[in-house]
Amino acid sequence: WDAAYERELQTFEDIGDTGEIWFGEESMVRIIRWLERHKVPLDSSVLDIGTGNGVLLVELAKSGYMNLTGIDYSPSAIQLSERVREKEGMSNIKLKVEDFLAPSAELSGFDICIDKGTLDAISLDPDDAVGKRKQYVRSLSSVLKPEGFFLITSCNWTKEELLSEFGEGFEILEELPTPKFCFGGRIGNSVTALVFQRKKAKPSILDKLD
Ligand SMILES: C[S@@+](CC[C@H](N)C(=O)[O-])C[C@H]1O[C@@H](n2cnc3c(N)ncnc32)[C@H](O)[C@@H]1O
Repeated sequence: WDAAYERELQTFEDIGDTGEIWFGEESMVRIIRWLERHKVPLDSSVLDIGTGNGVLLVELAKSGYMNLTGIDYSPSAIQLSERVREKEGMSNIKLKVEDFLAPSAELSGFDICIDKGTLDAISLDPDDAVGKRKQYVRSLSSVLKPEGFFLITSCNWTKEELLSEFGEGFEILEELPTPKFCFGGRIGNSVTALVFQRKKAKPSILDKLD
């Protein structure tokens, strides 16, 4: 990823192109429309997991969201997203080099977490992808508030697979419509977009004593 974003950073410096928009512009519109439809307050804290060039955060800022954070484990991606942020004049977007699989303590209490292609990237890691996926779910539970929303767009996993991946701590709220294709008489989607809600924290034994 670092080498890929190094190249994209160079292209940005040369011709001002922000680079690949994963899953196209419609994937950003889909996410923003959902937030708007559900009247998610504009001051909600939003974390973009594996932000890449940070363009989604810029679009969220243009839609009025003002508490935006993007992390990426690739320093070149964060450098690129900083340049994009600067070009767009969105200095209030927070950007940080962080490995989501080992999140720092300050990464917590988010109202909304968004993943567009990052779990896919992690799932393709040839080194212990299963363990990394489990860690991903643990990290998500530690950074997202109970009852917070998690919006994921994936081309690697079907709805059913994502439901089983996140089934324990998260509830599905909605499947967002994505383009369909027909093959051999069956209809499918090449991209899955789901909205989950983190389940409420279980009451502790101390709460019961109150
Ligand atoms: C397919 S790209 C998607 C980028 C961006 N979300 C978008 O939609 O344009 C996957 C991103 O995940 C990042 N990534 C992969 N593993 C990560 C990890 N463990 N922690 C943080 N970022 C990670 C990569 O550096 C890359 O920017």
